[in-house]
Amino acid sequence: MSNTTDSNVSHEAGAHRGGDTLTGSGAALPGQGAHAGDRTQPQPGARPVKAPLLEIRGLHKRYGETVALHNIDLTLHRGEVVVILGPSGCGKSTLLRCINGLEPIQGGEIRMAGVGVFGRDLGWDAVRQKVGMVFQSYELFAHMNVIDNILLGPMKVQKRRRAEVEAEADRLLERVGLLARKQAWPRELSGGQKQRIAIVRALCMNPTAILLDEITAALDPEMVREVLDVVLELAREGMSMIIVTHEMGFAEKVADRIVFMDGGRIVEEAPPAEFFAAQRTERARVFLNGMDYVI
Ligand SMILES: Nc1ncnc2c1ncn2[C@@H]1O[C@H](COP(=O)(O)OP(=O)(O)OP(=O)(O)O)[C@@H](O)[C@H]1O
Ligand SMILES: [Mg+2]
Repeated sequence: MSNTTDSNVSHEAGAHRGGDTLTGSGAALPGQGAHAGDRTQPQPGARPVKAPLLEIRGLHKRYGETVALHNIDLTLHRGEVVVILGPSGCGKSTLLRCINGLEPIQGGEIRMAGVGVFGRDLGWDAVRQKVGMVFQSYELFAHMNVIDNILLGPMKVQKRRRAEVEAEADRLLERVGLLARKQAWPRELSGGQKQRIAIVRALCMNPTAILLDEITAALDPEMVREVLDVVLELAREGMSMIIVTHEMGFAEKVADRIVFMDGGRIVEEAPPAEFFAAQRTERARVFLNGMDYVI
């Protein structure tokens, strides 16, 4: 089966979003360009061609003798949300980690439009500023309060001035409902709050795209929603994202395109309505039958 069926994203694909908003509204979240308006003001019949943003070609990844990724081709378009689904061990985390240079690759290339090939035209430290990542574990520094955790990357790595970044951090904290906890220590926050801080920390680097790897997997069920709402809002505002999740209801709602992986390969790609209505492979059918629909 082809894994290069990167269909262009239609207005319709994004128009299903928007039912979930954050409390309060402020400045737009960073990282989105003019395409953000595409989602909120669909023009009937229009099917704009979205420009490719991240292009992965022939990606091959081995851990010793184990081949974790076989010849992966995947394109993320500007303003698009791709959700990767698949059974444990199929290579989802490995794919995200290869994209932002946390794992060396043995073949293929990853490029960003207008920037070039990662690791060749752009060093991996620079890649990680353009492509933010949030993991299952929050990874906030325990000895730093919330605001210092958020400001660390922008000030140390990007050499930006505290006053400028702090103003941006304050706006983002307000958007995720946590401005009042700016001076709190990580140990004083719930898992859902820590994960929202981790998202703000990634956004404060002004990334072009972000990768989310099972960011609600470690949370108690009542905290899942508050974190997924933040991601839905980011999607609605046009952030380009690749999301790995086991929350099927969320996947259906947030995705422009579902990519289903098995055994280190992409075996199905389809718009969410199509994928959830009728899977083309037996493997995907079996996978979905075993999933809970939480939201
Ligand atoms: N650091 C590593 N060293 C050796 N093998 C690894 C390493 N990380 C992952 N693997 C192997 O690579 C394959 C893909 O793992 P990966 O963590 O990407 O799966 P996944 O789809 O994210 O699974 P899960 O849903 O459980 O998170 C698995 O066979 C795994 O055992
Ligand atoms: Mg994983």
